[in-house]
Amino acid sequence: MSSWRAVVGVGGGIAAYKAAELVRELARRGIQSQVVMTAAAQEFVRPLTFAALTGRKVITSLFGSSPEEVLASSVEHIGVAREHDMLVVAPATADLLAKFAHGLADDFLSTLYLAFDRKVLLAPSMNTVMWRNAATQSNVAALRARGHVVMEPEEGELACGESGSGRLPEPARIAEEAHYQLARRHDLDGETVLVTAGPTREPIDPVRFLSNRSSGKMGYALAEAAAWRGARVILVSGPVELAAPLHVECVRVETAREMRDAVLAHLPESTIVIKSAAVADYHVANVPAQKIKKTATRLPLELDPTPDILAEAGAEIERAGRGQLLIGFAAETENVVGEAKRKLKAKRCHMVVANNVAAEGLGFESDDNEVTLVTQAGEVIDLARAKKRELADRILDEALRLRLELYSRS
Ligand code: PMT
Repeated sequence: MSSWRAVVGVGGGIAAYKAAELVRELARRGIQSQVVMTAAAQEFVRPLTFAALTGRKVITSLFGSSPEEVLASSVEHIGVAREHDMLVVAPATADLLAKFAHGLADDFLSTLYLAFDRKVLLAPSMNTVMWRNAATQSNVAALRARGHVVMEPEEGELACGESGSGRLPEPARIAEEAHYQLARRHDLDGETVLVTAGPTREPIDPVRFLSNRSSGKMGYALAEAAAWRGARVILVSGPVELAAPLHVECVRVETAREMRDAVLAHLPESTIVIKSAAVADYHVANVPAQKIKKTATRLPLELDPTPDILAEAGAEIERAGRGQLLIGFAAETENVVGEAKRKLKAKRCHMVVANNVAAEGLGFESDDNEVTLVTQAGEVIDLARAKKRELADRILDEALRLRLELYSRS
């Protein structure tokens, strides 16, 4: 796992306690925290909480209490600024936003901010009227114009009893944004990647459906990886429990027919299409308007094939001739590579990701996967067992190589 270092600045707001969860979420993503608390933050949470979580001294003031400490701490903000990759401030209060915007430096955090020349991520939290106030909004605009990321606060009930925009974004979301900002690459800049993910649900009656075990993890990992590499990402997702990754446009669908319509609608603007969704192959021919009663001992269901979205996309991409790259998946339990080669040809893909879904702990629902890439040029590339997120980057490496080949030929 990569190792980044972030200064986590904690401002004095009721959401200060959530910074503890943020520090844990950052650690989960391989980002170490050095916590800095303002005097006001210490009224809400004790530094000991953060010291225990990070195993490091929490910085609470610009000057120490002894003469030696005063001497050391007079330049500490410079050292801390140079040793860290990112400054994350959560909660960023109206007061902190104003100080940063205007360059006031009267405590450790605001002094550190002035000395910090790397990425800055601010997660505001305050009363909704304070957030909407023209002074705050102009400070936010100034900070964004400086290249800092200022997250939008969330809507909801606020500690003051009022409701509206002003809640601190969820710590997991702040950590995701921090990770994105740190890990962001640019090799897919200019590409539009269309990813399908998850299962589809084909209704049997108004309360029942046919579906499969796809969790969406593989497709969501691909969508996130592509966004982190600079692509615009359109994620067409069947029903899953996952939150859409940040910086991804998510189109939610239920049935194969809806997925087809969404894919075809976004196909013209896409340069790379990756179909990792587990689309139901059949749907019920005549779905009754009312719930089927339990009367018969056997209930025959008549099934019709769903549209083959991959094959339709393949035909359309070939017809349009604009150098778009098409990647299919093949979930198989036997003759995995042979079936992938057959699908590659039949559906006019440039590459198929062959996924053996019979292996224990791999494929459907798991965090890990192991796949073989089969390309039009006859290459067979085995990707050893790894986290789906890591495999997503490997798949995109090959996608980028093929896309550049297509581009140079067109
Ligand atoms: O979601 P997870 O729990 O993370 O699991 C990941 C996964 C196992 C679902 C994924 O890695 C995977 O293998 N996805 C493809 C599943 C599948 O439906 O495979 P298939 O061999 O039945 O379909 C072949 C290809 O045709 C796929 O790209 C599929 O999206 C596409 N297809 C299938 C049927 C259909 N009507 N339209 C399609 O476009």
